[in-house]
Amino acid sequence: MNPSLRTLLGARRRYLIGLDVGAVRVKAVELTDGADGRPSVSAFASVPLPAGGQTEALEAVRKAATFHTRRVASAVSGRAVTVRYITMSNVKESELKQALPLEADKYIPYDVEEVYLDGQRLEGAEGGESKVLLVGAKKTLVQDVATRLEAGGFLPVVIDVDAFALGNAFALAREHLLVPEGGRPEVCALVDVGATKTNINILEGVTSRFTREVYVAGQDVTASIVKTLSMSPEDAERWKCDPKDRLAEAAAGVQGVAEDLGNEIKLSFDYFESQFEREVQRVWVSGGGLRYPGLLESMEKLFGKPTQFWDPTEGLGVEPGVDVAALRAEAGSLAIAIGLAARIADAP
Ligand SMILES: Nc1ncnc2c1ncn2[C@@H]1O[C@H](COP(=O)(O)OP(=O)(O)OP(=O)(O)O)[C@@H](O)[C@H]1O
Ligand SMILES: [Mg+2]
Repeated sequence: MNPSLRTLLGARRRYLIGLDVGAVRVKAVELTDGADGRPSVSAFASVPLPAGGQTEALEAVRKAATFHTRRVASAVSGRAVTVRYITMSNVKESELKQALPLEADKYIPYDVEEVYLDGQRLEGAEGGESKVLLVGAKKTLVQDVATRLEAGGFLPVVIDVDAFALGNAFALAREHLLVPEGGRPEVCALVDVGATKTNINILEGVTSRFTREVYVAGQDVTASIVKTLSMSPEDAERWKCDPKDRLAEAAAGVQGVAEDLGNEIKLSFDYFESQFEREVQRVWVSGGGLRYPGLLESMEKLFGKPTQFWDPTEGLGVEPGVDVAALRAEAGSLAIAIGLAARIADAP
């Protein structure tokens, strides 16, 4: 049912928390059905994740804001998750799920019995040749994530993949801006740079064409500062967020990391461009990793494409009682959490 109709009819409001358990911060955004049909932020929190202290961090998240539900959508990522863009023939929508295990055997580096599989038809006529997005995640990983969420007091109802959550957040915020009338949808790359990993999702319009995870990110910048300025990791982390006088001294080391990361990301652009014969036109950045002064500009130069931070809260309503200034200040780091909560539309 259309969300605004639900509200008009006095149906109980739905709520879903998108929970992004990052390597250094846990981000949670709760969405609900807004009165105008747009999803609306009803609570959010971002708390540091102490090493090894996930249960405490999840409890801290629950205390940091007034959530209306314990239902969460969260994500898995890393090497135990496989994403492939495959071609299948003669597959009907209704038969896709049953057909996946046979196909998956060719693409997934584990025994199909050991993985949860999902698939989505991207395009192609029913019964003809279709492009299908295939996702496989090791059951042990998914179960482990679910158990940890439950230990922290949440009720997992959706387990997604980081890169897709990023795409869903982008669709929510910007879909209305994307398709120029009569033209082809723009190709843009979403790049979320965290502490330990960088997620890339290349979209044509709002359709994902390519995803990849790269293991160069914010903590490599911190490591270069530790080395160049002979600081402890804790001091370097603090200094990084407010680098006053020694910016120039740290520059050479940081530039080296920027080049490593930029070149890794560029490899993904090159691959996409060779496969699809379309160019990545624009890069939208989220996550905390590129907030260090000058990093975004270095990336833009390296890519030779417009490269900007984007605000994933742009297309959302905000419920009364939510601190809007704090939400906007954190917004750049909330993209994945928002994209997870966007599953409110189809969550069980
Ligand atoms: N103001 C800032 N200036 C510089 N760096 C910052 C700033 N704020 C955050 N960072 C850096 O951003 C990184 C954390 O970003 P984020 O919260 O997106 O990571 P995460 O989601 O916890 O990690 P991951 O995605 O790798 O699991 C850290 O490396 C931190 O040093
Ligand atoms: Mg992250």
